[in-house]
Amino acid sequence: MTITFKDEAGIAGMRLAGRLASEVLDFLAPHIKPGITTNELDMLAHGYIVDVQDAIPAPLNYTPSGYNPYPKSICTSVNHQVCHGIPNDKALKKGDIVNVDITVIKDGWHGDTSRMFQVGDSSIAARRLCAMTYEAMWHGIAQVKPGARLGDIGHAIQKFAEHHGFSVVREFCGHGIGRGFHEEPQVLHYGKPGTGVELLPGMTFTIEPMINAGKRDIKELGDGWTIVTRDHSLSAQWEHTILVTPTGYEVLTLSSGSPPPPGFMSLPA
Ligand code: MF3
Ligand code: CO
Ligand code: CO
Repeated sequence: MTITFKDEAGIAGMRLAGRLASEVLDFLAPHIKPGITTNELDMLAHGYIVDVQDAIPAPLNYTPSGYNPYPKSICTSVNHQVCHGIPNDKALKKGDIVNVDITVIKDGWHGDTSRMFQVGDSSIAARRLCAMTYEAMWHGIAQVKPGARLGDIGHAIQKFAEHHGFSVVREFCGHGIGRGFHEEPQVLHYGKPGTGVELLPGMTFTIEPMINAGKRDIKELGDGWTIVTRDHSLSAQWEHTILVTPTGYEVLTLSSGSPPPPGFMSLPA
């Protein structure tokens, strides 16, 4: 496998898929309240993607080698769950934090994005973790331009997260995306500046840091998918799909409900 470069038609397809993925999160947001189950969120999202968007939920039956088929249409990772949480019949409760990760396929193109949500009001510590993880993602996005390297993205995320006393999960990373869900390259959320693959216009990949309040170590649950922190500390993740443009980047997974970029993004460089 090699990195795929998107031409104008491909970019148009990726823009549409990206916006639709983000619009699923806009649609779900008002439902994320104490008492709703993650299975109910999954059913709502499935209906919206299939019936309203005329798109396909990419996770459903997704079967990377070595995995069993993913059984649901979205991922919901609650509290100490890091990623790939499988929706179930347990109700969300006040104070939970939950990552909802949406990937849709539209006209053969993938859009992949996730956000953190508070269920009711969360603790100050939980809110801070979610806010800092959002900033960490944007510190990575801010590095994206032709000639920069993947290590610049990882380094910016790691430096910011660790400076604030958090840890970066190493076992999962961002990824190239296009007609494939997970394409090359791997986009690590840690690293050294000036190292790794050089960014070029037409590349599309995700940036999706998983940041833990405690230690970085993780383990997989017996369901073969759900990843949790070993020390049971809280974990947060945000994800955008990004296009490298001739002058910098374009965030493909934006919609009317996307939170604004953090304040530092509008400061002079
Ligand atoms: N959306 C996830 C990512 O950001 C992948 C989920 S794979 C699934 O790469 F099968 F768990 F859905
Ligand atoms: Co992804
Ligand atoms: Co995702």
